[in-house]
Amino acid sequence: MSATFTDASHDRYGLVTPAVQPPVVVATEGIELVCADGRRIIDAAGGAVVTNIGHGRAEIADAVATALRSIDYVVPIWATPNRLALADRLTERWLPDGFGHVFFAGGGSEATDTAVRLARTHHLSRGDERRYKVIGRVPSYHGATVTTLAIGGHMARRAGLDPLLPEWPKVPWNDADALAAAIEAAGPDTVAAFIFEPVIGASAGALVADVDYWQQVAEVCRHYGVLLIADEVMTGFGRTGRTWGHQHDPVTPDILVSAKGLGGGYVPMSMVTAADHVVEPIAAAGGNVMFFTYSGPDAMCAGALAVLDIMEREDLTANAAAAGQRMMSELRAAVGDHRCVTEVRGRGLMIGVELAGVSAAAAVDACLAQDMWVYPAGSGPAVPDSLLFAPPLSVSAAEVDEIVRRTAAALATL
Ligand SMILES: Cc1ncc(COP(=O)(O)O)c(C=O)c1O
Repeated sequence: MSATFTDASHDRYGLVTPAVQPPVVVATEGIELVCADGRRIIDAAGGAVVTNIGHGRAEIADAVATALRSIDYVVPIWATPNRLALADRLTERWLPDGFGHVFFAGGGSEATDTAVRLARTHHLSRGDERRYKVIGRVPSYHGATVTTLAIGGHMARRAGLDPLLPEWPKVPWNDADALAAAIEAAGPDTVAAFIFEPVIGASAGALVADVDYWQQVAEVCRHYGVLLIADEVMTGFGRTGRTWGHQHDPVTPDILVSAKGLGGGYVPMSMVTAADHVVEPIAAAGGNVMFFTYSGPDAMCAGALAVLDIMEREDLTANAAAAGQRMMSELRAAVGDHRCVTEVRGRGLMIGVELAGVSAAAAVDACLAQDMWVYPAGSGPAVPDSLLFAPPLSVSAAEVDEIVRRTAAALATL
């Protein structure tokens, strides 16, 4: 390792120098980040809800290295061994029935952006040129590109950028009547899609709408011919204790986007998949959806395949359900009555602790003082801040207990 670390390491890294110097991480192991000064920080959020298989799995490095030795870069997006193998593995074992097509990209924003293009292209291919609007929820987060910020309802991350963002209709996160009204107001024949996170993550901290809401949403979208886009960038690949977050509810998406857990933090990989009825009119019209320069390089697909091997071999989706249940009940018992906590909620290993009278930033600082990273969720004054817990799906019972112990110790200092 050639870099040298000083107290001012972050002056040399990043666009803007942070006010407080964060730790310098030199290694990652299991559920821990190892710092240059020897400190070990529990990664109780899997970074940004990413490291589903945990840190330090050497077999991913081996798979990527092996693939990279035989193929580096192939564009146009022609078939290569790992591209094909990953697409086959996904359609055979991971994607919902009837989802036979997959498009790869590098990150979640690229994938949700592509889903918007896909929805528009679907309608165009059917001769329905008027449909282009995408309705989103408040709060929500779908990415940091201009289009994904525009369809999203993360008001803090949109702040100041409004002149760049088209005015897409927005509806409250738990009100299906408002969705029907928004479609009517927008002009039903102009609405292409409704985008939703099955469990709202970055903007609110694991908010879950009720079953009746999803039932009604499905009916409203079907009634108006509006495509349902499930943004499972966070909730996909077992995070909620089921393969897909939407599978807890009576709603079936037409387009499904996922990212973080697919590469598990080892490789930057995301995907868009769609039900056959979405893709077939595009093929029939001789169209397509433009790819990216990095739309699933072969070695990155090899890395994602190795991640899925571990997910399947260790049945980590089932562990997410079991460990999530333990963590939820222990967190409720340990901090549910704390004066700064209004609710502990979520699904599987995506758990939000909603805060009152204290900001997520201050609560995260208190956790860092206990050598634990937790994701600060929230999106502005309209939504209470939360701590978002999302440890690796491989987390053990003892590690869950330690995370809960440190959370209680952190909140006790507030
Ligand atoms: C639900 C959701 N969609 C999209 C994104 C954007 O993903 P990325 O940061 O990989 O571009 C995120 C990131 O947190 C997310 O949580």
